[in-house]
Amino acid sequence: MDKNTLNHKPETAENAAPAANTAPSASAEENQFGANLNFAVREAYKRLRTNVIYSLPKKEDNSGLIIGVTSALKGEGKSSTSLNLAYTLAEAGSQVAVVEADLRLPGISSQLKIKPVPGLSDYLVSPGSQTISIRRAPINNNLFVVPAGTLPPNPSELLGSQQMSALLRALAGKFDYVIVDLPPIGAVTDALIIAKQTDGMLLVVRQNYAHKRALNEAIQQLNIAKAKILGFVMNDVGSGSKHYGKKKYGYYQEYSK
Ligand SMILES: Nc1ncnc2c1ncn2[C@@H]1O[C@H](COP(=O)(O)OP(=O)(O)OP(=O)(O)O)[C@@H](O)[C@H]1O
Ligand SMILES: [Mg+2]
Repeated sequence: MDKNTLNHKPETAENAAPAANTAPSASAEENQFGANLNFAVREAYKRLRTNVIYSLPKKEDNSGLIIGVTSALKGEGKSSTSLNLAYTLAEAGSQVAVVEADLRLPGISSQLKIKPVPGLSDYLVSPGSQTISIRRAPINNNLFVVPAGTLPPNPSELLGSQQMSALLRALAGKFDYVIVDLPPIGAVTDALIIAKQTDGMLLVVRQNYAHKRALNEAIQQLNIAKAKILGFVMNDVGSGSKHYGKKKYGYYQEYSK
């Protein structure tokens, strides 16, 4: 990755392009997170960690950094990326919370076999009457999960609430990194509502999956929302498949400031 790539501000999919690094395959039969991933893929997530750490300087008040993860379309690998980025940050000694903020299709607590309820939505419905559920992930002592909770009829309203902003700030006061797993931008407004409250957004792009137009629209929406796009996580690179859930596994990322 050269310096120009690093300093390059993505406005469109075309100028966001070149690959920074790649990782070879891992089997889909394995659990696709944490220490279960093969060495090369784990190394790729470590490079993502390094890039994230260097893209986001520490804040003056020393509070933790809030990073949102989204994509143009569904199924591009947001939850896998959120969990693996969180794991690799936790592995390096940071205290990390992953917030399962895709209240329509949560994907993290089930992967980790963590009880999903009560969780974020239950807390946001009546924050006065209960404390937020934060569960330790069974895969690393530094890693915690705020599960989605009972799937609500009004996710956008809950995520757009003052309680949600206050919760993110409170989590940032307690953890070094708060990774927010969001729904895709193309479908609903949830991700954009949260985007401006983050210190930076990662856009996951699945190879041979999202059309450039959808990606451009997602970038445009994030720019309109005045979100800071940290960069792109190119997922499933090298599988050569238009279908997700493919057995091969590859990955690269590109960063910008
Ligand atoms: N690089 C990859 N190679 C192969 N399979 C993958 C890869 N990344 C994710 N997957 C698989 O693709 C599916 C979708 O991934 P994931 O749930 O992370 O995406 P998502 O963007 O969070 O989806 P959703 O929009 O439904 O929340 C899962 O079955 C996951 O295991
Ligand atoms: Mg998901």
